[in-house]
Amino acid sequence: MTKDKKLGLGTRAIHAGYEPDSTGAVNPPVYQSSTFAFRSAAHGARLFTGEEEGYIYTRIGNPTIRALEDNIAALEGGARGMACSSGMAASNTLFFSFLSAGEHVIVTDAVYGPTRLILETHWSRFGVEHSAIDTADLDAVRAAVRPNTRMIFVETPANPTLKVTDIAGCAEIARQAGAVFIVDNTFMSPVLQRPLEHGADIVVHSITKFINGHTDIVGGLIVFKKDAGYELAFKPWYMLGAVMDPHQAFLGYRGVKSLKLRALAAQANARQLAQALLEHPAVAWVAYPGLPEHPQYEVHQRQADGPGSLISFELKGGLKAGAALMDGVRIMTLAVSLGGIETLIQHPASMTHAGMTLEQRHEAGITDGLVRVSVGCEDVEDLLADMAQALAQV
Ligand SMILES: Cc1ncc(COP(=O)(O)O)c(C=O)c1O
Repeated sequence: MTKDKKLGLGTRAIHAGYEPDSTGAVNPPVYQSSTFAFRSAAHGARLFTGEEEGYIYTRIGNPTIRALEDNIAALEGGARGMACSSGMAASNTLFFSFLSAGEHVIVTDAVYGPTRLILETHWSRFGVEHSAIDTADLDAVRAAVRPNTRMIFVETPANPTLKVTDIAGCAEIARQAGAVFIVDNTFMSPVLQRPLEHGADIVVHSITKFINGHTDIVGGLIVFKKDAGYELAFKPWYMLGAVMDPHQAFLGYRGVKSLKLRALAAQANARQLAQALLEHPAVAWVAYPGLPEHPQYEVHQRQADGPGSLISFELKGGLKAGAALMDGVRIMTLAVSLGGIETLIQHPASMTHAGMTLEQRHEAGITDGLVRVSVGCEDVEDLLADMAQALAQV
């Protein structure tokens, strides 16, 4: 029943991955066990050779973790999911599995900071080459392809610029180059965007964000379009030890059941907040894929079912105004991360990116007055009033 692709996405989010067991438990039990007993020596041998499916050791597989993997795979329309301890563990499992010394990866320049940084500073130590480019520009992607390009890794919309990459366009470039094409779908969640439908081979998530949605775990999830991709990454994943914990998986599964409700409610709030910001005299510009002014509005409309709930905007008053806004908000929580049920706000120039020089920040598009809001599910009137009173203080 739960694997039926004809079922709506909201139904799959609630049911996929788990059927009530012999106890009738409606939710998957937390199998808090590091290891699993074999019924006999022959049974153990069959599990090890893969002749029979079953559980051996939690770093290799666990029923609570499997419930979450199957749920997200059903939402993204993939063959198989692979749960990881964090979003970064998921991305690094993919780099480790698909790239070797002397090979090259193309990555979105505005990809999540540590994803780019680890390619620059650590994977480079093992001879993996990379080009960080503006993947919103398909000509730039084509120009970046080298004979040794084995992976294209994009994030769309990307953070905090909210630039959008054409997924189908990149998929075609990757296909011609013989490279694996991976999309970080954290910002949209499968409710709003399903990259495998547009030609991606693999989707990666930080489920810390929308999928879990309750700001109480860190976790990652990879979905492979084909079993072959899963099989290739399986041993690297379990030998790296990148696996999720069963309790983390239980909470993630609890969270994903309400993903559709949360994503749509937050998006409805964000549409109103983006419009209010656009009209406010203290705001220079607003980046939100739901506004026709967004440079890749058409592309996003084509490949996603909605603009989501992340908004970036520039305060005319620069650094000082940004810090004043952060001190002025009362309901919005001053914190990094995103995709939770509560609204989070942050000012990169005085917070996450304060360690960079002015030049480095501007090169990365982190202007002094840039503010990022991850809009949550509070009553929209309260969010609009909170933003208005805080903007009045800048
Ligand atoms: C788009 C994106 N990808 C990956 C990550 C990394 O995820 P995690 O913090 O779960 O390791 C983040 C974290 O903020 C993110 O925003």
